[in-house]
Amino acid sequence: MGDEKIRILAIETSCDETAAAVVENGRRVLSNVISSQISLHRTYGGVVPEIASRKHIEKIDQVIREALAGADVTLDGIDAVGVTYGPGLVGALLVGVAEAKAISYARGLPLVGVHHIEGHVSADYIEHPELEPPFLCLVVSGGHTELVIVEDYGVFKILGRTRDDAAGEAFDKVARAIGLSYPGGPQIDKLAKEGDPHSIVFPKAKIEGAPYDFSFSGVKSSVLNYLNQHKMQGKEIPRADLAASFQHAVVEVLVEHTMRAAEGFHMKHVAIAGGVAANQGLRSAMQAACERAGIRFYRPSPIYCTDNAAMIGAAAYYSYKKGVRHGWDLNAVPNLRLGEH
Ligand code: KG4
Ligand code: ZN
Repeated sequence: MGDEKIRILAIETSCDETAAAVVENGRRVLSNVISSQISLHRTYGGVVPEIASRKHIEKIDQVIREALAGADVTLDGIDAVGVTYGPGLVGALLVGVAEAKAISYARGLPLVGVHHIEGHVSADYIEHPELEPPFLCLVVSGGHTELVIVEDYGVFKILGRTRDDAAGEAFDKVARAIGLSYPGGPQIDKLAKEGDPHSIVFPKAKIEGAPYDFSFSGVKSSVLNYLNQHKMQGKEIPRADLAASFQHAVVEVLVEHTMRAAEGFHMKHVAIAGGVAANQGLRSAMQAACERAGIRFYRPSPIYCTDNAAMIGAAAYYSYKKGVRHGWDLNAVPNLRLGEH
C-alpha cells in the first residue's frame, strides 16, 4: 500500500494553452505537454476567447496523446483524470472538461475537477518534495493576485487579493503601452534588466484597513500619464528605465505584503506561484527578503509558473487522496471560488 503509485492524466485548457501531463503521486512529472496559442492571439493584443476554444478543440487529442507517449503509458496505466474546471474562459474550460469526462467515462476512471489557482499553488510541490502545508503563497498570474495561507492540501485561507487589475494584467497593459507585444510580462522582465529601477518613482498603492490587499491600477495610470507627458513634450521614452521602474514598484508591493503576512501569521515557509512568479525581479527580491527574515522560500521553475497541466496533476492527486470525485455533471465554472469543490 505504502509504495502504491497513482498516475493522473491532467488536462488544462482554461486560457490560451492546451496542456496535458501525466503526474505520479502528485510530485513526479512523467510528461508535461503544452501547446501554446500565444502567437495566434498576439495579432489582437490579448486572448480572443472564441479563437481559444476552437484551437483547444483542434489540439486537445494530439496533446493528450503526446503526454501519454511522453510518460510511456497508455490509458491502462492511468488511475484518474484531473481537469481544470474553473476559473477561466468558459468556452476554453468546456473543451478540457468535456474531454476529461469522455476519457473517464469510456475508461471507468475517477474524474477529479481542479481549481486553476489550486493548480498554480500545487506547482510548488513538484520540485520541492519537502514542501508541505502550512505555508504562505503569493499567487500572481494574468487573472489573479491572491495572498493565501495553504492550511492543508486544498484548504486555503485567503488573506488578500487585488482590488482591480491582476499583477500580470498590469504587466501586460504597461508592456502594450510601450509597444511590446502580448504577453508583455516576460518582455518587461527582459527590458528591466537594462534599466535603472530607481530612475522613475511610481506610487505604491496602500489600501486603508486591508494590509494584504493589492491595487495596480494606480501604478498603471502613472505609467500612462508619464508616457503621455513625454510624448506631448516630444521627448524620447526611456523604455528600459520605465520597465525597470514599473517592475520595481510592483515587485516591492508584492514582497512587502507577503513579508508582512509571513510575520503576522508566523509563517516559516513562503512560496510564489502563477505566471508572474517567473519574473526574475520578483524571484530575487522575494528570495532576498526571505533570507533576511530567516524564512524558507519556494518557487517553481518558470515552465511550471505559467499555465501547464503538471500543476493540475499535482493538485488533482491531493484531491483524489481526499476522496474528491466529480460526476458526469461536472461543468465549467468561469468564476469558481478557491476552496470550493
Ligand atoms: O499563470 P498564467 O500563465 O495565466 C493565468 O492564469 O493568468 O499567467 C500569465 C501572466 C501574463 O500576464 C504574463 O504577462 C505574466 O503571467 N508573466 C510574466 C512573466 N512571465 C509571464 N510577468 C512578469 N514577468 C515574467 N517573466
Ligand atoms: Zn494560470
